[in-house]
Amino acid sequence: MTGIICGTGSFAPAKVMDNNDLAKLVDTNDEWIRERTGVVQRHIIENDTTVTMAVRAAEEAIKNAGILPEEIELIILSTLSSNLIMPCAACEVQKAIGAVNATCFDMNAACSGFIFAYNTANAYIESGLYKTVLVIGSESLSNLTDWTDRGTCILFGDGSGAVVLKAGETKSYKAVTHSDGSRGEALTCISRYAIKDDSDNGLMKMNGREVFNFAVKKVPEVINEVLEKNNVNIEEIDYFILHQANKRIVESVAKRLKADISKFPMNMMEYGNTSSASIPILIDEMRKNGELRKGQKLVMAGFGAGLSWGASIFEWN
Ligand code: UT7
Repeated sequence: MTGIICGTGSFAPAKVMDNNDLAKLVDTNDEWIRERTGVVQRHIIENDTTVTMAVRAAEEAIKNAGILPEEIELIILSTLSSNLIMPCAACEVQKAIGAVNATCFDMNAACSGFIFAYNTANAYIESGLYKTVLVIGSESLSNLTDWTDRGTCILFGDGSGAVVLKAGETKSYKAVTHSDGSRGEALTCISRYAIKDDSDNGLMKMNGREVFNFAVKKVPEVINEVLEKNNVNIEEIDYFILHQANKRIVESVAKRLKADISKFPMNMMEYGNTSSASIPILIDEMRKNGELRKGQKLVMAGFGAGLSWGASIFEWN
């Protein structure tokens, strides 16, 4: 038994901030942001929260899966930007959608979060403990963004994506994940509750160049590793669904893998970097656009703070 994605959903808040809006806040411009990142606009919450967005994505995924909320046995919510410390955001989603039989917890592996949550869900399914699992990535990064720092504020956006995994008889692939805490300083955000003086503003700080160099090296490596581990040839892969951090990162990964860039769908133009929500939002959009067909083999790859990175192979059903 392994987990099969049988439903997807996503949500992005209605308010949009484009690059010209950002140029009013910091010394930047539309051309620079488009060229260096690929981002054109991002969605920003007004009244929504990480939880309310997660609920919207989850409801859509459940409807698409054709299941009842009561059938869900486990909810894993990946986020680094929850509006709650406790109860966990997954429990709030459970309450809102009526998934009364689910066990719920949150996970934080930053931008690798969805991959890590998906792998955790799959491990539970393969162990035989649960058969129906809801995996959500939901982020309100605008709350953690320093709107005076042009090195970071141009990148991030808010949104949520969800998938329903059901146990089924299909080929099982082994995931590959890595973490390197010794490089954690490249991308940090200290909890506001831990700040005792004004030495830190509790917002995201990033060494962009370092994260960029890490991503373009480690993502192709981990994709090759997951392909090798599962005896899958790179030509067999229909799509590479990468965390949507930067268009240049995606292009560089495609080049290093010598794979056709048309196999690397991108939507950071519309959403910016939504951390753990980016991969499920992209999968949901591809489903809605009719780009996914039964039997296709897909690779997902995430990377980000930690540092952390990982990749998984799955087949569309
Ligand atoms: O989810 C994972 C999280 N993070 C990432 O994936 C981020 C990875 N890193 C990146 O995407 C890129 O490093 C950035 C987009 C953040 C920055 O691009 P870069 O090509 O690495 O630029 P840089 O920081 O090396 O800066 C190049 C120049 C500098 O000017 P000088 O020193 O050459 O005169 C910067 O001051 O661009 C300047 N610059 C900007 N100019 C206009 C930096 N940010 C901006 C800006 N607008 N927003």
